[in-house]
Amino acid sequence: MFGKKKSAPQIDKDQLELIENAQKRIKQKKHLYIHFVIFLIGAVFLIIANTILGIGKEFTIFGKEWFLYAILLWLFLFIYHLFNVFITNKFLGKAWEKQQLEKLVAKQQERIEKLKKNVVNDLAIPASNKETKNEQKKNELIIIVAAAENNAIGKGNKLIWHLSDDLKRFKALTSGHHIIMGRKTFESFPKPLPNRTHVVISRQKDYQVPDGVILVNSLEHAILASKNDTETFIIGGGEIYKQALSIADKIEITRVHENFEADTFFPNIDTNFWKETANYLHKKDKDHDYEFSFITYKRK
Ligand SMILES: NC(=O)c1ccc[n+]([C@@H]2O[C@H](COP(=O)([O-])OP(=O)(O)OC[C@H]3O[C@@H](n4cnc5c(N)ncnc54)[C@H](OP(=O)(O)O)[C@@H]3O)[C@@H](O)[C@H]2O)c1
Repeated sequence: MFGKKKSAPQIDKDQLELIENAQKRIKQKKHLYIHFVIFLIGAVFLIIANTILGIGKEFTIFGKEWFLYAILLWLFLFIYHLFNVFITNKFLGKAWEKQQLEKLVAKQQERIEKLKKNVVNDLAIPASNKETKNEQKKNELIIIVAAAENNAIGKGNKLIWHLSDDLKRFKALTSGHHIIMGRKTFESFPKPLPNRTHVVISRQKDYQVPDGVILVNSLEHAILASKNDTETFIIGGGEIYKQALSIADKIEITRVHENFEADTFFPNIDTNFWKETANYLHKKDKDHDYEFSFITYKRK
């Protein structure tokens, strides 16, 4: 009753179209060949009819025998046929149209991918962040970090990966604001980041910082130094994150979906205290070696 159905071999639509096109081309070339043979025989027949059999011998056009014009006209028709088969049908036929369409679709796809990339930062910036840039809200303390699945964040006082869209997002979020960091993180930069007020924490009283950089000796003092800002970002590293986690209002984490060997780690995010409010996946691509997600957590 529930016997198996016999499966017939399947040819997909594209394959069928290709076969039909190939058959059409063979037919066109065959017809052209037949035309050529008929033309040769016909031309010889016209020459014989005029010169040997004397048909229309008295009829000339501009002093030349009529059969020359007839052969020329036929030659012109044959060339027109030849042109149709090798040029018009080859380049303007269905197969050519399809090829052009595919090229066009591929180009459009490429443009869409480029546009997508340009808006990636916009997409990944949570709406609440955009709002706070306009509304003058109270000072919000935000941890911003890029951490692997195993919470790795750095090794040898360096970042472990290079993810350009993450750096762009970091810049977009922190620009114009105070950024608080530990002395070691500050030293990992070749020079201070433009358009941000750096607040560096160190226990060393005589630690030298460039003009414009604020030096403090505790996290509390760092927060005090940033109190007039609407958003203050804690940008690392491991020691500072650990101390800031219990007092921050928000975490902007870039979760890199890999495990890495490291010497510095981000603390675990306890979901009893933190609620995920946004999550945007960024796929691996030619500029990004790893897949990662921009995730926003707010304190519950
Ligand atoms: N993936 C990411 O998003 C990210 C972000 C930032 C950094 N990182 C990485 O993290 C690593 C650096 O982190 P880290 O934990 O080694 O160092 P860190 O947190 O950047 O800096 C530690 C230093 O901060 C000062 N400090 C810490 N707590 C203090 C306190 N309560 N009072 C006064 N000073 C205090 C001390 O400076 P003194 O010794 O001068 O007293 C301490 O040595 C690097 O590998 C870096 O690339 C990763």
